[in-house]
This record gives sequence, structure tokens and C-alpha cells, in this order.
Amino acid sequence: FSSGVARDAGQVTIQGIGVTELVEQFGSPLWVIDENDFRARARAYVDAFNEAFEPLCGGVDVFYASKALLTVQIAKWVKEEGLRMDTASGGEMALALRAGTDPSHIGLHGNNKSDEELHTAISHQIGRIVVDSLPELYRVEAMAAQLGQTANVMLRLTPGVDASTHQHIATAHEDQKFGLTMTPAPGAETSDAYQAVHFAANAAHINLVGLHSHIGSQIFDSAGFETAATRMLEFIAVLAAEDIVIAELDIGGGYGIAYTEADDPVEPAVIAQNLAAHMSTEIDRLGITCPRISIEPGRSIAGPAGLTIYTVGTTKTVWVEHDGEHYPRRYVAVDGGMSDNPRPVLYDADYTAVLANRVSDADAVFSRVVGKHCESGDIVVNTVYLPEDTDHGDLLVVPATGAYGHVMSSNYNMLLRPAIVAIKDGQAREIIRRETYDDLFAREVDL
Ligand code: LLP
Repeated sequence: FSSGVARDAGQVTIQGIGVTELVEQFGSPLWVIDENDFRARARAYVDAFNEAFEPLCGGVDVFYASKALLTVQIAKWVKEEGLRMDTASGGEMALALRAGTDPSHIGLHGNNKSDEELHTAISHQIGRIVVDSLPELYRVEAMAAQLGQTANVMLRLTPGVDASTHQHIATAHEDQKFGLTMTPAPGAETSDAYQAVHFAANAAHINLVGLHSHIGSQIFDSAGFETAATRMLEFIAVLAAEDIVIAELDIGGGYGIAYTEADDPVEPAVIAQNLAAHMSTEIDRLGITCPRISIEPGRSIAGPAGLTIYTVGTTKTVWVEHDGEHYPRRYVAVDGGMSDNPRPVLYDADYTAVLANRVSDADAVFSRVVGKHCESGDIVVNTVYLPEDTDHGDLLVVPATGAYGHVMSSNYNMLLRPAIVAIKDGQAREIIRRETYDDLFAREVDL
């Protein structure tokens, strides 16, 4: 739960505002984001990484990975807390620009950027285009030449790390679509990464800003980050010996958060200190100067600051068999589901839920919270113990839905997407309004 969540007179409250009041005012389901908590988490990265790395490599730039949760208001909070903006598409970049983000503080990622995206990035002179492949690098040089400009380029490399996370969100091993490989092909003398650095360092219309690696997402084990840092620094040492100075190293995002009590995330301060200590040893060993460090956390800023409120519609109990025993499972159906949170169905992601509008003395029973979509995989919380009397009209709260929920939501079954309410200093305000049926029909050409 975000820091502002408490129980008051039986009800779950966020900064003192009860869930019943929120649903009366803004409808259900509802995404709630604790703005103070979001801002504090954003600031914590800036403070922790600057403190840990300042003596070693100078200040750290923290780029908020806006794919986790992005609205104009959120872009403004990010800027006010002193973070920069990582975007991964023309749409995210356009929103960042619309929200008034300084273009020099914007980064653009993507394994397959369109000409239009590159054109916008170069002509706005954004801080860094994170180039993902050799062909893209050549396109950037050609386009910058054509526009008579210099493109700020970072190169994304795959340091060959198997991060311990779901395979769909692991990104640094070789056999996946992102990044320039650091391993030469059989019979080849140099890797794509090496060739890209040489091309970028000598290209007339490219300013090589630095190197980038991102090993994956929802990672708890710091070993992967350390291995990646070592590989990147070793490569930087090879380049330094050829008089190619790499001024900046981005070590990506991916820090895990707690979705249930089984998860035990590491605080930013601890991550920063461990990484700084590891890099300090490696830098001494390799005899190089430390590049400026940047990072790109998304989930760990937005995720814990958010929660979803659902209303219970109907329930049923079925008897299931496990290891020869039969036991009851209660299905509790709510008014949203895979359209507002596809993570359980996509990644088998675990969440939890609590009865939020009242306290119940009833026994807690083995339950599954499901949505209202027309498929059986539409699960909100796979396994949770809820009071046996949980029933129609009750409110459930699912914590930690701030990241990769709204941004991956859909209108499947023509469900209306919920509003997002931000709560700051005890005041609630809508930052994204609930959809209407007219929104659903807005793109019909002939209505
Ligand atoms: N930087 C790059 C280059 C990335 O690709 C990502 C996430 C991040 C930073 C931020 O990672 P974070 O700190 O948020 O873990 N939809 C999936 C997550 C996909 C992550 C994609 N890239 C999910 O719901 O788990």
C-alpha cells in the first residue's frame, strides 16, 4: 500500500478520504494514485543515487520510465521532483513535450522507431535517442544530416545477463529483440556494439552521449545489475584504450516492487549504495574514469503509489480438488478485470485484495477475485482470503496497481476505462476522467 493508506472506522482511507466517498464521487472501478507517495518515491531515487554516486562519478540523472504510468499531470510531477523523462514511442514523447518537459531532458527508446518518431526526436533536439540497432544508427545519421542537425545518441547494448524475472520482461540476454549485441558473430572480429560505437563516435551528425543497458523488469536480485555494470564498464575500458571516451552510462530500470506480502523489495538507497560500491571496485580494477550514471525506474515509482477500487457484483462457491482433497473456492466477481489490469493474464502476476468499505467478523475463506469479461482467464487476484460475507455492493481494494495498469488497459468487451484520481495533501481530484460510451464510439467514421 502507498504511504497514505490507512483503516479508519472500518473503511480503507487514502490520506483520510474513504473509499466509499471516492466511489460515490468518481465512480467504480477507480484508479487512485497517492500523489504525495508518487512524488516521494521519485525524489527518493534522485536523492539516493546522487548520494551514493556523487563521490564516485558525479551527479546521477534519474529518468522516469513513463511507460509505467503517464498522464500530463504525472509528467509535471516528474519534472517538479527533478527527474527527466524516458519515453518509448512517439505518443509518450508527444505527451512529455505537451506537458512542458524540457526536450533536453527527454530520452526516446524503442527497438523499431519510425521515421516520424526519429524526425520528432532529432528536430526537437531531445537529450538522447537510445539507438537499438545498427540500421537504426545509420538512419539517424542520415536523417540528422538531412535536417542539418546533430542527433544526441545513446547506444543500447545487451550485456548478456539472464535476469531472474518473467521471460516476457527480461531484456538483456542475447536471444531477444532489444539492443546491440556485445558478442561478435562466429568468425567476426568485432561485435555490433563495437561497430556502432565506432560509427557513432566518428559520424558527422551524431553526438555520442553514452551507453545504455536495461536487463529487465520486476527484478529483486541485485546480482543481474552488478553483472551488467561490470560488462558495460569492461567494454568502456576497451574503448578508453582506443581513446573513445564514454561520458555516460545508463543502467536502466527494473527494480521490483511488492504486489503481495511474498515480495520483498529493496529500498532505492540500498540499491544505490550496493551498486556504487560494486562499480567503485570495478572502476579501480579497470583503471578507468567513472562515466556519469543515469537510471530509468518506472514501476518502483508509480506502482506502489496506485491502487484500484472495485465493486463486488456477484459471488459463487465451487468445490475444487487438490492433492486428493476437496475444498471450496469462492469466486468474487468485480466490475472491472483484464481490461483495467491485464497483468495477471499476461504474466501470471500476483496481487492481493482487501474488503475495503467495512470490517467483517466473518471467517476469511479461500477466494479468487475475477472480472466481468467473457473469458475464464479474466482474473484480478488469483488467490486471496476474503471474509465469507463479502457480497454485492462491497468494495475491494487491490494495492500496487499504479504501474502498467492504466497504460496497458483496453476497452475489451467495450468496457469503459476508469477515471484516475490523484490524492494530494488530503484532496482528491480527477486527472483522467472516466470514459463514456461516446468515447467508445468517437472513432466511428459513420455513426
Ligand atoms: N528502461 C527501459 C529501457 C525499459 O524497457 C523499461 C521497462 C524500463 C526502463 C522501466 O522498467 P521498470 O523500472 O518499470 O521495471 N508491462 C510489464 C513491464 C514491461 C517493462 C518494459 N520496460 C509489466 O507489467 O510487468
